[in-house]
Amino acid sequence: MPVMRSVFYVPGNNESFIQKSPSLPADIITLDLEDSVPPAEKAKAREMTRDNLKLTGSGGSTVYVRVNNWETLMTNDDLEAVVYPGLSGICLAKCGHPDDVKRLDWKLDELERRRGMPIGSVAIQILCETAKGVINAYPSATASKRVNSLIFGAVDYTKDMRVKLTSEGVEQFYARSHVAVAARAAGCIAIDCPYVAFQDVEGYEKSTREGRQMGYEGRMLIHPSQIEPSNRIYSPSAEDAEWAKGVVEVFEKEGIAKGMAAVSFKGKMVDTPVYDNARTILKTMEEIAAFDKKRKG
Ligand code: COA
Ligand code: MG
Repeated sequence: MPVMRSVFYVPGNNESFIQKSPSLPADIITLDLEDSVPPAEKAKAREMTRDNLKLTGSGGSTVYVRVNNWETLMTNDDLEAVVYPGLSGICLAKCGHPDDVKRLDWKLDELERRRGMPIGSVAIQILCETAKGVINAYPSATASKRVNSLIFGAVDYTKDMRVKLTSEGVEQFYARSHVAVAARAAGCIAIDCPYVAFQDVEGYEKSTREGRQMGYEGRMLIHPSQIEPSNRIYSPSAEDAEWAKGVVEVFEKEGIAKGMAAVSFKGKMVDTPVYDNARTILKTMEEIAAFDKKRKG
């Protein structure tokens, strides 16, 4: 699975933020053409984003661009401007329906052909951030093979639900859980919502740990200070690694080798799904280590 612990947002029209972005250790940097860019700046942001795709990725981060949703009539112009080599994925804002994803898939296919890029090389990430988008998360995620991740967008979601966005997030509970489950059902990575109170480091870490337990494997980030904690929290800890190695060892030596698929480890039962889960943790660690090694060059 791709490594997406930190999905960091940079407004596509902000020259100084873009210049700073290659120095930031985010797994993904997303240049934004949507809501962090005012209408009068959209054209400038498209140009600036296209011109800086390679610079943004020069520090080792994977580069995505967030485009406006189809209803705005801006999506086509956004895509025409930015689908060039250097781009790894498109995040579709306010995705509401599988047809939105299919339309994006077709357009990406066309642009990849026209621009000599490998067909299928640009991934799709969908933002589930409306009531409709949350309900349709699974059908949307399975509408194209390109979809690799789903983001739960709490800011637009609470607006759509006509409720107040809080740091505790009680109002997000159902949707946040639903998007995580839909993502996993579709074989995609679940990316948690932005935490807008970016100066509240303690609250951010608490909320991120909660999301991790719901199945999120990365988070959409708005401020550089959120990148390091995110990379840390979504990486298996030394304790997780020790537990996973212990489980694998005991299950293989004391279980499988002796004709049993249930054994005891540190006072708890270990059976096949526990063993599989431990192996997934070890695999995730390998993927993260390979990603970090590649990033450091
Ligand atoms: N990308 C790149 N650099 C950023 C950044 C970002 N998103 N956010 C902050 N920085 C930089 C600042 O330029 C500053 O750099 P410096 O120390 O070299 O001068 C440093 O990080 C600290 O920034 P700070 O002063 O704490 O933040 P701010 O008040 O300038 O900006 C926000 C706060 C929230 C407005 C800003 O972080 C931001 O625009 N975030 C992204 C918003 C976004 O993309 N929203 C859409 C998705 S929800
Ligand atoms: Mg939004």
